[in-house]
Amino acid sequence: MVDVILGLQWGDEGKGKIVDYFAPRYDIIARFQGGPNAGHTLYVNGSKVVLHQIPSGVFHEHTTNLIGNGVVLDPVTLRRECEIVKNMGVDVKKNLFISQRTNLILPTHRALDKASELSKGEGKIGSTLKGIGPAYMDKTGRNGLRVGDLLDKNFTTQYIKLRLKHQKMLDSYGFQEDISAWEEEFFEAVELLRELNIVNGEYFINDAISKGKKVLAEGAQGSMLDIDFGTFPFVTSSNTISAGVCNGLGVAPQKIKEVLGVTKAYCTRVGGGPFPTELHDATGEELRKIGNEFGATTGRPRRCGWIDLVALKFACMINGVTQIIMTKSDVLDTFEELQVCTSYNVNGEKSEVVPFQMTRVKIEPNWESFPGWNTPVSEIKDFSVLPQKMKEYVSFINGYLGVDVQYISNGPGRDQIISVQ
Ligand code: GDP
Ligand code: IMO
Ligand code: MG
Repeated sequence: MVDVILGLQWGDEGKGKIVDYFAPRYDIIARFQGGPNAGHTLYVNGSKVVLHQIPSGVFHEHTTNLIGNGVVLDPVTLRRECEIVKNMGVDVKKNLFISQRTNLILPTHRALDKASELSKGEGKIGSTLKGIGPAYMDKTGRNGLRVGDLLDKNFTTQYIKLRLKHQKMLDSYGFQEDISAWEEEFFEAVELLRELNIVNGEYFINDAISKGKKVLAEGAQGSMLDIDFGTFPFVTSSNTISAGVCNGLGVAPQKIKEVLGVTKAYCTRVGGGPFPTELHDATGEELRKIGNEFGATTGRPRRCGWIDLVALKFACMINGVTQIIMTKSDVLDTFEELQVCTSYNVNGEKSEVVPFQMTRVKIEPNWESFPGWNTPVSEIKDFSVLPQKMKEYVSFINGYLGVDVQYISNGPGRDQIISVQ
């Protein structure tokens, strides 16, 4: 049996915290897509940790963590992260496993990401510059190197061949950067990677499932950044939606049970691209300040706005969301009035559909207003004690989406989460 936790917006919904909270109920936590573009923040015994490559179950002793084949893996980031978690008492040799089919991010992928973004000028995607796009391009272009290749004696030859190809591409961009230091780091990190548990991920996970073990698939990014269904071309390069679990881990669709979709009580986006409910005013600024909305991977300020129910309903549809988890509810504590987007005006016509190409149409949100609860909620442990006005806000969202909010997160801490009875 596999449950999934994934983001329903443009990433940074608080997935890391939620996965960490649910992890003790599962035997295996598995990342199925994305790479070090992800930044998942957890608080472990009061210390903040941001994970980019390692699944967010790693701090639970009895949980096995798997980096699935659908992920793109940067050995340098992994090595750094292994050091951090080791210093916090985690034995990665015991509880971290990596699929041999996982594609590697090479130093030249990072250079190509940079070159591609520079070439786009104003129209740049705002990529995290971690090499994600170029690494997935090499995967689908059937050129990529995979973790299992590290165990092949010809690895260096294969690496040099691909590097030469990349160098030609970099030359055609007119991009120059000395990557020798990156390469040195890469080969050092590869040594560590070879010593970790490299497994046949699809057998590993299916054997566990057939023995009755419980798996939690951890999504990265969010549904609106999905390569197929997001705000293309301002998206990431993987399938972030629940379907990505099947090809990112090698599990069959009927094995998937609950799909837990995570949304903020408002909305943020980092990087370029359409964001219909974005606020360019003092309220947006306030959300950023109170919500501490700065990227966990790049430190960039996140763009902020009200919750977009049109986009959320779309995300529920394409993911088959069975439960919603609403995070950062406490951030709204001091707002007098809250707005909720219930439809768009697309080129002047009312619509409740996410358009094919958000960048080529004029989208204006239509709002429903709610009075704020003006009560601090972050210490509350029980649903019954939550302010009535928050309950009304949540109840409206449930009604619109046709899927219920089952948990409300009211602070970044591990235990700041309330189950909705
Ligand atoms: P992820 O990428 O989805 O894991 O999310 P990030 O870690 O990038 O960003 C979420 C941020 O919000 C982190 O700084 C979390 O510590 C924080 N956070 C998560 N849940 C809550 C919450 O309910 N309230 C508040 N105030 N912060 C939260
Ligand atoms: P988590 O898992 C928020 C955004 C980037 C950029 C676009 C493409 O922490 O929610 P990429 O590096 O993938 O080529 O960038 O996607 N992006 C994210 N935004 N959270 C993330 O991950 C993101 N990963 C990528 O800002 O707009
Ligand atoms: Mg993040």
